[in-house]
Amino acid sequence: MTARAEGNPKADGEMRLVIVSNRGPVTFSRDDSGGREHSRGAGGLVTALNAVMRREEEAVWIASAQSEEDARVAAESREAPYEVEGLKVVLVEHDEEAYELMYNHLANPLLWFVHHGLYDLPYAPELGDETRRAWEEGYVPVNENFAEAVARTLEASDGGAGDETVILVHDYQLYMTPLYLRERLGEDAFISVFIHIPWPEPEGWRILPVYAREGILRSLLQADIVAFHTRGYARSFIRTVREVLGVEVDEEEGVVRTEGGREVWVRAYPISIDPREFEDLARSEEVENEEERIEDLPGKLLLRVDRIDLSKNIVRGFHSYDRMLQQHPEMREQVTFLARLQPSREDIPEYAAYAEAIQETVDQVNKKYGTGSWEPIVLSMEDNFPFSVAAYKNYDVLLVNAVRDGMNLIAKEAVVVNEKDGVLILSENAGAHEELGEHALTVNPYDIDEQAGALYEALTMSDDERARRVEALQSTIRSNTIEEWVEAQLKDIAAHGKRRG
Ligand code: G6P
Repeated sequence: MTARAEGNPKADGEMRLVIVSNRGPVTFSRDDSGGREHSRGAGGLVTALNAVMRREEEAVWIASAQSEEDARVAAESREAPYEVEGLKVVLVEHDEEAYELMYNHLANPLLWFVHHGLYDLPYAPELGDETRRAWEEGYVPVNENFAEAVARTLEASDGGAGDETVILVHDYQLYMTPLYLRERLGEDAFISVFIHIPWPEPEGWRILPVYAREGILRSLLQADIVAFHTRGYARSFIRTVREVLGVEVDEEEGVVRTEGGREVWVRAYPISIDPREFEDLARSEEVENEEERIEDLPGKLLLRVDRIDLSKNIVRGFHSYDRMLQQHPEMREQVTFLARLQPSREDIPEYAAYAEAIQETVDQVNKKYGTGSWEPIVLSMEDNFPFSVAAYKNYDVLLVNAVRDGMNLIAKEAVVVNEKDGVLILSENAGAHEELGEHALTVNPYDIDEQAGALYEALTMSDDERARRVEALQSTIRSNTIEEWVEAQLKDIAAHGKRRG
């Protein structure tokens, strides 16, 4: 598990790097003949962490077992990491009920909703015994289980005495892991936590019951670095820590000093993509084959690509499109809205209801304006990434109108391969707005008239203006790729490590 010393925390020793995230790089299953097969994990986080693994090829990635076959791999990887596609993976099996409480009751409705501002506050949430049970019997034990797996993996590895252990913990499912890691590994281990979702203002954080709001912050302050995608989230985190725990912070420097005298650096590293990977994909035969289906759609192409999540603001996006077609009848049959939506977290009632609301809204709009030869909204939920990339290449307008979004990597992936000088409409509440807002059409995600106006402006924008904007967007994205994202973090880990001596 040791990696080359260059750029590592200790120049004289090696670095033992461990990545921990709930969702892993691969998930396993059995084929018809009973042999083991695997598919790559989906989502931007997984793609990004793959880039870390490429940079530090000896690193080990620890993640939750998600399938029956994953559980078998979990048992096999207790002794030594399982090697797949050049990655060293350790899967962790959790108690089924504990995992269900963590995922479907604590992390995804409660924490996700607090972070993204999704509650209808006069009515929800109603916190009580059930919340405490999800915390005590779900979230906490799953996090302890992760810490135990990290400790076990490190013990079984062959690190030398001078080696520094660096653990990169990812996202809101694992907020309590730093605390249990510190207990097991002591002060010497370097712990960095990356939070991939927006951090709310202090009053938003205080929606959480006291044991969770304080418990999580105390655990996060066991890390050496707490990282976010934007400077805005980093600042909100620092304010929250000061107001909720009353600890000493330096907002300018981005430093929290804990009661125990430790220094926690709070930093922003805007995540990105590997443009080459998407350029290669865009040229691949499978993507080119899918392009025919895109070309068959009538008129200009308005595109959105999202997980079905309330934070993505999908229903309001359709209402804005409806409003645009109402205000500009001349646009009817001149545009098709392709919505590529991926089912997500379907066991959570709010998500199931949202999926229904999406279908109902699409039906209403299509009934209102559709003709024999034109379907105003084409809803596509098939699991087909080449089809999404074919759409990335061909959109005239890309709509990203999230209520809140940690970064939104679709905005970056799609823009780098687009061949139509497509216009980006971007929510001011998406993390990507800090970098891309200047050359996008900015929208308030709650204002459907403003979004309708932006849709019309984008669909009728002059060719020159479109070309100018896309060029600026592409060069911004290319100037901060996933390589820089990894590099910047390793550099800070090295710098902080030195200061700790
Ligand atoms: C977001 C989160 C990730 C999560 C992903 C997919 O990007 O930041 O932590 O893995 O959504 O959600 P899921 O619940 O399917 O893992």
